[in-house]
Amino acid sequence: MGIEAQGGQKTAGANTVAPATGKLGVMVVGLGAVATTFIAGVEAVRRGLAKPIGSLTQMGTIRLGKRTDNQSPLIKDFAPLADLKDIVFTGWDLFEDNVYESAAHAQVLEKGLLDQLKPYLETIKPLPAVFDQYYVKRLHGTHVKTGKNKRDLANQVIADIQAFKKTVDRVVIIWCASTEIFITPSAVHQSIEAFEKGLENNDIGISPSQIYAYAALSEGVPFANGAPNLTVDTPAMVDLSKKNAAPICGKDFKTGQTMMKTVLAPAFKARMLGVSGWFSTNILGNRDGEVLDDPESFKTKEESKLGSLDYIFQPELHPDLYKDLYHKIRINYYPPRGDQKEAWDNIDIFGWLGYPMQIKVNFLCRDSILAAPIALDLVLFMDLAKRTPSLRSIGIQEWLSFYLKAPQSAPGLYPEHDLFIQSMKLKNTLRHIMGADLITHLGLEYYD
Ligand SMILES: NC(=O)c1ccc[n+]([C@@H]2O[C@H](COP(=O)([O-])OP(=O)(O)OC[C@H]3O[C@@H](n4cnc5c(N)ncnc54)[C@H](O)[C@@H]3O)[C@@H](O)[C@H]2O)c1
Repeated sequence: MGIEAQGGQKTAGANTVAPATGKLGVMVVGLGAVATTFIAGVEAVRRGLAKPIGSLTQMGTIRLGKRTDNQSPLIKDFAPLADLKDIVFTGWDLFEDNVYESAAHAQVLEKGLLDQLKPYLETIKPLPAVFDQYYVKRLHGTHVKTGKNKRDLANQVIADIQAFKKTVDRVVIIWCASTEIFITPSAVHQSIEAFEKGLENNDIGISPSQIYAYAALSEGVPFANGAPNLTVDTPAMVDLSKKNAAPICGKDFKTGQTMMKTVLAPAFKARMLGVSGWFSTNILGNRDGEVLDDPESFKTKEESKLGSLDYIFQPELHPDLYKDLYHKIRINYYPPRGDQKEAWDNIDIFGWLGYPMQIKVNFLCRDSILAAPIALDLVLFMDLAKRTPSLRSIGIQEWLSFYLKAPQSAPGLYPEHDLFIQSMKLKNTLRHIMGADLITHLGLEYYD
């Protein structure tokens, strides 16, 4: 080593990643604002009506070799990702609205664009959902499956997946449904056997998202979790993922406020600036905001949003700078704003000799516009992971932490929250699986 780009040695065989031949079936749980913006967006891009801005898989490049080599192909030309034209969508929801109707209801995309896409979007109609109001208090839906117990419901989801598999070549499932109540892992989550028994006994610790996840993993289908629910973050699901070579990742799309947080906090930490307080508040008026207005769903989101600063600042290593940090997060449901969330952060920092300073961040974002490209990238990378022998049986795809607010990581391993470490991890994983040299950014060889 000792050079910026390690020359000569390849880290893995490029030929080991299977090509993305045929159709990629994408099953989306929850056809609400994020999902419909994702699906309509993919169709708009396929038709050349818009650009896939915000998507690393579609617009990002990856540097190969030394800086002087001038080699930076598009990621999608470097790794064998499914082409957008090969994606086929379906999904589940507890409302019967097709994707056009649901997108119109969400009011994220302009009517003019939606109307151009209408004939296609109308063809995507939700399958009946596994739903129980105990886990999402603010929703009441009628388009739901019924069964004698949770095992029966899981079998119905498995049947949905098997039927869809007959029409495509590969399948990935992504959770874009509402945030469920906070669930603490219990005995039922500790092993596959305990979980399967829990399905038979209708264990209260098993929420609908876990039933979908169980069905996906039982079928060897990758499952990405875009919400902060427990879902695949349990020993039982990690074991099932490994056993059936069905990659998993979660939790919670990292879009607006937390994305900014995981950019700013590493900067303060890198410069050894102290932080005494970080107050984050949001207003949003979409259905997600309504669901999060329920304290039990909010608790799940709060836990997901809170973790990042502690892990980035490492107060145990830097008590003078971060030991007394007061971190507070508020989400306020405010209907007039719809999907156009506004987030404010007040950050109290201190510098040389302890002198205080303040930073204010006011992010007027569009929630689903930020989340849709993340959903696309996760789906494409999870499909890639499934086709990659060195990734498909490892369970958690930690290299996709880049996209997630509360990234899952191996037991005993703290998650990486710093966006730039996550970005490097993602790109080095791609280099690794494609047999290219890893990049260390040392660069002394330029000065020999
Ligand atoms: N938009 C963002 O920036 C962002 C960021 C991070 C996480 N998320 C999460 O993504 C999820 C989706 O957000 P959204 O704005 O699209 O919400 P939304 O309310 O518009 O859509 C969620 C959809 O899921 C459906 N649903 C709920 N439970 C279901 C179940 N058990 N099975 C099938 N369908 C179910 C609802 O009926 C609804 O149509 C939420 O959990 C949200 O917290 C969003």
